[in-house]
Amino acid sequence: MNAVQGDVHTSPLIFVMGATGNVGGEIARQLSETGTHFRTGVRQPEKAPPLPGAEICRFDAGDPASYGALDGVQRMFVLWPPGTDVNRDVLPMLEAARSRGVRQVVFLSILGAERIRVVPHRRVEQWLEASGLDWVFLRASYFMQNLSGVHRDDVRLRDEVFLPAGRGRTSFVDVRDVAAVAVRALKEGHRSRAYDLTGALALNYEQVADALSVTLGRQIRYTNPSPLKFVRVSLERGVAVAFALFMLAEYTLARVGLAGRVTRTVQEVLGRAPISLRQFAEDHRAVWMKDESETT
Ligand SMILES: NC(=O)c1ccc[n+]([C@@H]2O[C@H](COP(=O)([O-])OP(=O)(O)OC[C@H]3O[C@@H](n4cnc5c(N)ncnc54)[C@H](OP(=O)(O)O)[C@@H]3O)[C@@H](O)[C@H]2O)c1
Repeated sequence: MNAVQGDVHTSPLIFVMGATGNVGGEIARQLSETGTHFRTGVRQPEKAPPLPGAEICRFDAGDPASYGALDGVQRMFVLWPPGTDVNRDVLPMLEAARSRGVRQVVFLSILGAERIRVVPHRRVEQWLEASGLDWVFLRASYFMQNLSGVHRDDVRLRDEVFLPAGRGRTSFVDVRDVAAVAVRALKEGHRSRAYDLTGALALNYEQVADALSVTLGRQIRYTNPSPLKFVRVSLERGVAVAFALFMLAEYTLARVGLAGRVTRTVQEVLGRAPISLRQFAEDHRAVWMKDESETT
């Protein structure tokens, strides 16, 4: 553990889970940039980016032996790590947090969680609502960063956006906006708030491919495979069965028109417009550029 120097006890200690991932990583960066002292809990501390102000602890939600990382913490950012079991891995960790003195939990959920009751996120929300803790739910729409993450090589190597969303629209949100709202909630101690976080527009994937084409200066096509073809090709490309089916379920929601709801919450909480898909594409341009060997 790297000891934090300075005014560590003058403001509530914030704990960030998932700091090697999309949202937790961005929260950690933003806290660090604002000169905040905080603690990150990661399964492999050597993988966590060293940031000014960050104390790095080993923490595994499924391992009670690591819960000492929560000692002294008052506010924490929590996510449901994909593939983990809520009852086994997340709720015991929240119990431990509460008994160790945590007062506020800012939880990364999904847009519409209150209606899709089978998702693990709703189970965590329900636990928090009944917990006596201060809670904030970040009910985020689909991340723009999926295009630079899980779908990166489709764009980079094959010049396509390959997913089965039909002509359905999605209200993409930039992870940097989700993190900025989390930082506000953590630093200002928000409570009993469910924030529905989306971008300013709902776009279909032809519009996404057009935006990428303009940014990259080459034609990117939206190929809109059938659900069956999407799963078959994903498996051929090495995607795990469970993840291919999970993505299919996600894109089916978009296909049937359930992913396009736009809210003004980012604007209201941050006092500025959400980051646009065009801006996101500009900022991440390099990740979709082909190497020299790939262009010949
Ligand atoms: N993708 C979307 O469009 C979207 C939209 C809305 C909500 N969400 C939700 O966002 C969450 C994922 O967030 P993300 O994209 O920021 O994460 P991510 O990039 O998928 O990374 C997952 C993080 O969880 C950590 N982790 C995994 N198992 C853990 C454990 N047992 N204990 C502690 N940490 C563990 C990982 O750390 P290490 O592996 O380094 O240990 C990593 O930092 C999911 O609940 C997802 O449903 C996603």
